[in-house]
Amino acid sequence: VHSKTLAELEYLHNTAIAVNATGKIVAIEPDHTSLDSALFSLLPKLNWTADSVSATSTASPSHFFFPGFIDTHLHASQYPNVGIFGNSTLLDWLNTYTFPLEASLSDPAKARKVYTRVIRKTLAHGTTCAAYYATVDVPSTNLLADLCLSAGQRALVGRVCMDQLSPSYYRDESPEAALSATMESIKYIEGIDPAFDIVRPVLTPRFAPSCSAPLLQGLGKLAAERPDLPIQTHISENKNEIALVKELFPPSATGAGDDSYSSVYDAFGLLTDRTILAHGVHLSEFEAELIAKRGAKVSHCPCSNSAITSGAARVRWLMEKGVTCGLGTDMSGGYSPSVLEAARHAALVSRHVAMGGDDAAKLTVEEVLYLATKGGAEVVGMEGKVGGFEVGMEWDAQLVTLGTVGEDGGVGDEEDGNVDVFGWESWEDRIAKWVYNGDDRNTRMVWVKGRLVHERK
Ligand code: GUN
Ligand code: FE
Repeated sequence: VHSKTLAELEYLHNTAIAVNATGKIVAIEPDHTSLDSALFSLLPKLNWTADSVSATSTASPSHFFFPGFIDTHLHASQYPNVGIFGNSTLLDWLNTYTFPLEASLSDPAKARKVYTRVIRKTLAHGTTCAAYYATVDVPSTNLLADLCLSAGQRALVGRVCMDQLSPSYYRDESPEAALSATMESIKYIEGIDPAFDIVRPVLTPRFAPSCSAPLLQGLGKLAAERPDLPIQTHISENKNEIALVKELFPPSATGAGDDSYSSVYDAFGLLTDRTILAHGVHLSEFEAELIAKRGAKVSHCPCSNSAITSGAARVRWLMEKGVTCGLGTDMSGGYSPSVLEAARHAALVSRHVAMGGDDAAKLTVEEVLYLATKGGAEVVGMEGKVGGFEVGMEWDAQLVTLGTVGEDGGVGDEEDGNVDVFGWESWEDRIAKWVYNGDDRNTRMVWVKGRLVHERK
């Protein structure tokens, strides 16, 4: 099962997918009368022999392969704080909960513990690709990249830049210091994975309020010199944050034609087709059009936006403006490491937008799963490579099981799973039950680039 388009999932029954030794999908043999028939007609076409392949198959009608999830925005360094946000909102949440924790990860032993667990946990939830923020500390940011590479999780790994309006115990000492620390981390990550195969560095100005104009300018210059590097930041998440940006970056300071948040990034060359903008809750019409024109992408983080009361992003509206969107957990603004949970919340938040009077705002099960996979792939610059099952794409996938396998092999007899399947549900209904009630118990096996990276015993 995978997304064909935003509106449509494709259900390939009795289908064999061939993945070669480098993790690429080389053939798809769809719609046979049985799995055996699909498999055995696939092999001769590839000149493969049965004893040269290993096969994993769905064991019952409620088991299926689905593309791995893409988490387009999360803070690996904030994982210990999931669920801990009280009644805070963004700016006090940062000062109270977030900066002290991030600062403490300059302790290498603590960083190793946190990063090892966040990778294990997100893989267990089916996240095969993650756009991570680490911290300002270079060695532990580099350690995060090492750990992603060895665990086999695709990752964008960003060393966080912040040289103002942050506590003295946790900030870059100057724009120059921030830029040279950024370069140091980029060089290290390029060194461990020169092909950007599994891990790649990402330019990461935390958000406009915590970056001085010279720092944003320096990062914009670096982005222009290095068109291979993605960029990630936050935008228009919270009303007080937006007011702060207007105060800090008036048009006289940026040279922009107006005082919008998006224009600040644009003025410094950071609003590009490689830019991942987290949140975008309160964007104006003008900003959505500017973002679409520049080809920048939005990471929708519904769990976070509800938890720290930022607001309800209008995803339908953004997409209709031509903005590419994906989903982010935004741990630990968001309390859950699960992209499936983010998909569920995207559906619910869209219903809150609809209750405001725009019924067309509602997102379907198919649409939120698209955002979690193919949409996310486009957001992180990996469209055509991951996010779906097509020849030429890489095998980043999860085996999802609903119900439990009965003694007879499970046909129509799948009680006691966390998602009960009675046997009479259509495939569309099974997928809907998964989206609204599923969790990591349903994710049995996870692969990245053909490599098994998680198995739930
Ligand atoms: N804006 C600036 N930093 C952060 C962060 O760590 N999380 C979220 N959600 N918003 C931010
Ligand atoms: Fe965030």
